[in-house]
Amino acid sequence: MLSDLKELPQDKILALVGMFRADPRDDKIDLGLGVYRDAEGRTPVMRAVKAAERRLWESQETKAYTSLGGDPAYREAMRKLVLADAVEPERVASAATPGGTGAVRMAFELLGMAAPEATAWLPAETWPNHVSILRHLGRPTKTFRYFDAETGLVDFEGLIADLEGAQRGDLVVLHGCCHNPTGADPDIGQWEAIADTLASTGAIPMIDLAYQGFGDGLDADAAGTRLLASKLPETLIAASCSKNFGIYRERTGILFAVAEDAAARDLTQPTLEYLNRQNYSFPPDHGARVVTTVLEHAALREDWKAELEQIRDGMLSLRRQLASELRQRLNSDRFDFIAEHRGMFSRLGVTGDEVLALRERHGVYLVGDGRMNVAGLNAHTVPLLASAIADVIG
Ligand SMILES: Cc1ncc(COP(=O)(O)O)c(C=O)c1O
Repeated sequence: MLSDLKELPQDKILALVGMFRADPRDDKIDLGLGVYRDAEGRTPVMRAVKAAERRLWESQETKAYTSLGGDPAYREAMRKLVLADAVEPERVASAATPGGTGAVRMAFELLGMAAPEATAWLPAETWPNHVSILRHLGRPTKTFRYFDAETGLVDFEGLIADLEGAQRGDLVVLHGCCHNPTGADPDIGQWEAIADTLASTGAIPMIDLAYQGFGDGLDADAAGTRLLASKLPETLIAASCSKNFGIYRERTGILFAVAEDAAARDLTQPTLEYLNRQNYSFPPDHGARVVTTVLEHAALREDWKAELEQIRDGMLSLRRQLASELRQRLNSDRFDFIAEHRGMFSRLGVTGDEVLALRERHGVYLVGDGRMNVAGLNAHTVPLLASAIADVIG
């Protein structure tokens, strides 16, 4: 059996990590892998997370199974964080999942159970795992225009025109904020128009919210998600705690299914638990309990928000610095969009050859589509990157 398996293509980002490690240059810069790093290049455990783990260690008396949907206190704390008061709690079904990826996978499986013929619509530029999970599950997909490489902004007219072609019951995947890989997000007026388009076609949004708090703030980053959930009869939301709590390896996520009414919610909740049961039975609990502890204790919550704000401000300041360095060197506004983008990523709009030249001539590692992880920079490396970019495009 095993010898009949087909060789799989290597994950491009992991291959890049291998190349970076093997590069002997001291001044090499890794802007590939999608984890947050501070100015010293570390991905630290956040203070409030450490404190919550300490509390748990002292107070936890059992590690017996939780419930199939995950700890109810976690689901309630996350509902408030993500949805606030956008929809009545009676409409919200939820299940804890292993990371945001687990929630994305579960959302796509739910689509397969409820509407096997429905198409999943993906932004033409999206997180590659969206594409590969849907392909793995054998779901039909289509893409809609998302990014305007000329302006570095959302191709809003293209997006709306394409989404007008969705059918009732199709699933439309949107990034709640900090779009990966482009960094370009709709503004609130554009979210309104997206809601109107979805309302008129009857398509259902599946919002991937992996970076709440990394863009403009916890509430601002959830504004589009809340707006859609409040205006539409049904919304799926796959949220991840990997980035905003810095607990990547704890695998902490949640799927929300906002149903039309309480009766539909009561039908949906056992289905989510059934899906957990078929895939891995009980979801991981440690990260979820850490998140709940942080969110429920005023002092821990304040400290977490303060540290998250520091992370966000750091990335915004690197963005502004890079945009300004490039403006000076090139005497052009071509890269001004970097300061307008939000989150860890920006697509630079450079060619494959230029990405290669950045790597070979300057030891700068970007993903092949020109995606840069801003958090891989620091105040010292920004001018080096600006010079390298100016050199390869010059
Ligand atoms: C767009 C997007 N969605 C979901 C995830 C899922 O993250 P995790 O499964 O680590 O929580 C990521 C992480 O890179 C992401 O970029």
